[in-house]
Amino acid sequence: MKKLSIFVSGNGTNLQRIAEYFSNNKDVEIVNVVCNTKNLNIPLRMITKQDFNSEAFVKELQDLGIDLIVLAGFLWKLPENLVKAFPKKIVNIHPALLPKYGGKGFYGEHVHEAVVAAKEAQSGITIHYVNELYDSGEIILQAHVSLDENETPDSLAAKIHQLEQAYFPVAIEQVLLSQN
Ligand code: GAR
Repeated sequence: MKKLSIFVSGNGTNLQRIAEYFSNNKDVEIVNVVCNTKNLNIPLRMITKQDFNSEAFVKELQDLGIDLIVLAGFLWKLPENLVKAFPKKIVNIHPALLPKYGGKGFYGEHVHEAVVAAKEAQSGITIHYVNELYDSGEIILQAHVSLDENETPDSLAAKIHQLEQAYFPVAIEQVLLSQN
């Protein structure tokens, strides 16, 4: 049995999709959802910044036997002790083609605004392992979309959303299968 912990800050659409995708898979269990906002209508482990940065939180996840932490739109930087405790066991989704439009301040709609303002021909998603720096761990998968001439941040967000829904659960499954 593989045990997932999903971290969220946003609307939880990726969480929803991941939960649906694995709902009939007896080998994968979502053990908890860690959240730092109150938007979601599901049972959550609400977390404060102080708890998040504590050794006790790392131990909590270790005691749960977590195989993979999934950052599904989670917007806090992870403390070094957490990253070190889960080497190659934390994955993130970023709504652009890293290394472009990544790093501090580039999240959610801000990413799409910057991509449209720069008149990029393409954007996409990047699913990657997490290290101590924002958006710079080893890339697992990228998927692309083309921007139309009259693309807006909202229309681009909708395209990116579709890619996320299609690719994220499958990438998570592949990572789980690659773990011995
Ligand atoms: C997603 O688009 C995800 O790629 C993005 O936040 C959104 C969360 O949506 N993540 C980042 O910007 C990370 N830097 P959701 O809460 O509906 O899944």
